[in-house]
Amino acid sequence: MRIHRFEKLWLAAAFVLIAAFIATIVYGSLGAGVAMVGDEGGTVDPGDPTASDNFREPGVYQTGDGEYAVYVEARQFAFAPGTNEPIRVPADAEVTFHVTSGDVTHGFELVGTNVNTMVIPGQVAELTVEFDEARTHHIVCHEYCGSAHHAMEGTVEVVP
Ligand code: CUA
Repeated sequence: MRIHRFEKLWLAAAFVLIAAFIATIVYGSLGAGVAMVGDEGGTVDPGDPTASDNFREPGVYQTGDGEYAVYVEARQFAFAPGTNEPIRVPADAEVTFHVTSGDVTHGFELVGTNVNTMVIPGQVAELTVEFDEARTHHIVCHEYCGSAHHAMEGTVEVVP
């Protein structure tokens, strides 16, 4: 039986595509892909994050000279701190955010910056950032988390 030249060509192309798809899965599973959540922060009890050693009472802590740690707990539909009170940190300081969720998956993004992570219950996302100017940043939740997801927001005030 004779196979047409173009049919052979398309068969070959299909096998190349299949091999490429498998390669992307293998590449991702080797940990070489994109990290969805920085897992250096470790895990916490999702029902009570503050009971864990690696998660403090939500708030802003000075941890050194020009170093701050901000512990944020996300819950439907607020960031604590962030929503009812702004997160206030100085400019030109090294600020590490530790963000976790007390209920469902949320997002934590400072609009217009690369500060952006998923917030997964039981896991602490860690992000270190240095703000080089005094200004207010808007926090939004970018993972659908329920009826008032669109209203889940907050602010980070970078003060001089
Ligand atoms: Cu929290 Cu959407």
